[in-house]
Order: sequence, then structure tokens, then C-alpha cells
Amino acid sequence: MLSNSEWQLIEGATAWPLKTFVQNQSRAFYVYDLSDARDRARAFKKSGARVHFAVKANSHARLLTMLKAEGLGADVVSLGELVKALACGFAPEDVIFSGVGKGREELSFALQKRIFQINVESFEELQLLSRLAAEKGVVADAAVRINVHVAAPTHKNIQTATEESKFGLDIRQLPDVLTWLKAQSSVRLKGLAVHVGSQIMDVGVFQEVSRKMGDLYREVTAAGFPLERLDLGGGLGIDYHKSGDNDLARLPEYFKANLENHGTNAQILLEPGRFIVARMGVLIAQVVHVKRGVNLQFAILNAGMNALMRPALYQAYHRIEPLTLRPGPRQVYNVVGPLCESTDTFGGRELPELRPEDWVAIFDAGAYGAVMANTYNEMQIPAQWSLLDGRLEVL
Ligand code: LLP
Repeated sequence: MLSNSEWQLIEGATAWPLKTFVQNQSRAFYVYDLSDARDRARAFKKSGARVHFAVKANSHARLLTMLKAEGLGADVVSLGELVKALACGFAPEDVIFSGVGKGREELSFALQKRIFQINVESFEELQLLSRLAAEKGVVADAAVRINVHVAAPTHKNIQTATEESKFGLDIRQLPDVLTWLKAQSSVRLKGLAVHVGSQIMDVGVFQEVSRKMGDLYREVTAAGFPLERLDLGGGLGIDYHKSGDNDLARLPEYFKANLENHGTNAQILLEPGRFIVARMGVLIAQVVHVKRGVNLQFAILNAGMNALMRPALYQAYHRIEPLTLRPGPRQVYNVVGPLCESTDTFGGRELPELRPEDWVAIFDAGAYGAVMANTYNEMQIPAQWSLLDGRLEVL
């Protein structure tokens, strides 16, 4: 069942871009309903936390300028994302720089721009940051991202705080780091940060993590570091099996878990990605062939894991609906992409009859869709169109 907003999105998509694309080219494309992301951004802002959108989820320029206008900050993880966020209007003091692989070039640029906060993920990175800041004669505002050893209930490929994880400073290393920091004058430890994984549906996890971080915050403050901020990361999931009508109703519980459980007077920072943008996006693809196998029937689309990697990487489910609804019995299709790779499949779906050249909508593709698209098999990166209040937005 499609929700009203999804029908509006499809109608918006079919009103102009789809017709143009059908006439002019046969390639899949993304359409974003920016109004949906705007509503979610506004709901997040109401929490009272400082909200930094995780740009990795979707870095479409028109989206970023809109989120900036709504008063959100940005959370970036590469020089490319940092430059793009600044180019889209975010001020340096709106930006948190996360990421496990920030080297000399990235850190130098961030220092030169005097961004709000650099989240360091290792002792080694902290030492480099301190050296670079000293060379430049500036003081770096940093937070340390802690690996708190929580195996978040989500796909293992998007857990980020198990003992084996490459992310964050292992909590057992913190005392040594603090001892070292005491003797430094070019890094100011402003806060602690955490992010235990993505697509987390159980709000209890955020409660557990914010409590742990609150305890740690008090310990570090008691050890003589005047912290001000707790960055509780992102990670709130959506139900990919249903439309998003009830998503916003989940926010109060999520905010409560994050904002009330730490028991400190720290300023709380949040870094949502998926929850803001997953629902706003559909990938519109075309059926190339309906292929009858012996036991299975395949709907082969013109877009697959090149356009949307999530099913291949995390066995992720995305709802699929044809744009032409043919009467008659529904049939089971294995909906697959065109690539020479067996993992290039969206999975089995019961759908109204499909015919070659029909268009289908693949839902909830606004997060980690276009940003992860690639050119495997020399496929083209899908175009991205955005609509705001039903109007096409061009940038
Ligand atoms: N903050 C940090 C430090 C992160 O690493 C991430 C996501 C976020 C915030 C935003 O998390 P979100 O609110 O979007 O869950 N490609 C995967 C997801 C990878 C997430 C990586 N980190 C997927 O398609 O499911």
C-alpha cells in the first residue's frame, strides 16, 4: 500500500521528469521529495539538540542547501563532503568532521577553516591533529569518538561499535589518551562522541548508549577536562517494509532516549542521516525484460546494484511498485538488475503484471542510494531530481 505522500511523489515524478526521461533516454533516476526531508529536519530541530545532518546519507546539493536553510548543521566524513557542505552554504561553525581516515590534508583544511568540531577516532589521529594545530599556531576543537562495545541490533555490516570495529577509540585506551592530552595545549577536548551503528529500530539501544556516555562524560570532567558537548551520533532506522506515515511519531521516544538519559548538562549533538532522507527518495527504473525461467520469472530492470547497493551489501529490502497498475492477478517476480553479478537482485516480489518498458518505483531510496552508486559494468550514475512542495527544483 502506498501512502498519500508516496502517491504524490510518484505523481510529481511522472508529471515532468519521468515523461522527459521516458522520451529522451532509458536510464534509471532518483526523485527526491525535499518537503519530506524538510518536515523531518524540522521535527529534529524541535528536540533542542544541535542537529548535524550526516551528509554521507545523501549529498545532493539542493538537499544540503535546504537543510542549511532549515538551521541544521552538517556531519561530514571526507574532504570532499566538507568542501561540498561549505559550498552549499554551511558555515565552518556548522560542521562536525567525523571519519576514521582523516589525514594531514583533511585535518589541515579543517583547522584552517576553523570548523566547529573534529571528531577524532584514534590516538594516532589525535597526535597528528595536535602536531598540525601546533604548526599552525591554532587550538583544535576536538571530540573523541569512543567505541563503547555495543553490538547494535542491526545488520553486522553496519554495526560500528563491536570490539572488532575500526571505528572510534577503544574505551580502554581513553585513560592513556587523557593523560597524554593533559600535557597538550594545541587540542581542546570539547566533548565525547559515539555512533554505534545504523538502521537501529530498538530505541532502547540509544538509551543504553547515552547512559554509558553520560557516565564517561562525568568521569572525564572529574579528571579535569571541562567538556561541553556529547555527540550521540545517528543511527535511527526506518521500517523499509512499510510506508513512512508513522515515522515522526517515533521521534519523541528516540529524543527521550538520547536527551534525557545521559544525566549531564552537556550540549547534545545528533547526527541523523537515514531518518531525514531515506523516505524522500524513489529510484525510478524501467523493466528491460520479463524473463521466464523454468521455476522463476525475472523482471530485469535497467538499474541494479550500480544504482542502489543496499540490497547487495546488506540484503536490504526496498518496497517496489510498478507505475502502471495492470488489472488481473498479481504474479511473483524476482526483481533483478542488469549487472553481471548474482547479488544484483532486489529480491522476490508479488506485483501486478509487468511488461517490458514499464517503469517501477523502488522506495525509501533517499539514504545511501545515489551516494553509493557506481559505474560497474560501465553503467551511468543515475540522475537526481528534486521536488519541493510539488515543484521541480533545479540546481
Ligand atoms: N554519524 C556517524 C559517525 C556515522 O558513521 C553515520 C553513519 C551517521 C552518523 C549517520 O547514521 P544514520 O543516521 O544514517 O544511520 N550504507 C549503510 C549505512 C552506513 C552508515 C554509516 N555511518 C546503509 O545503506 O544502510
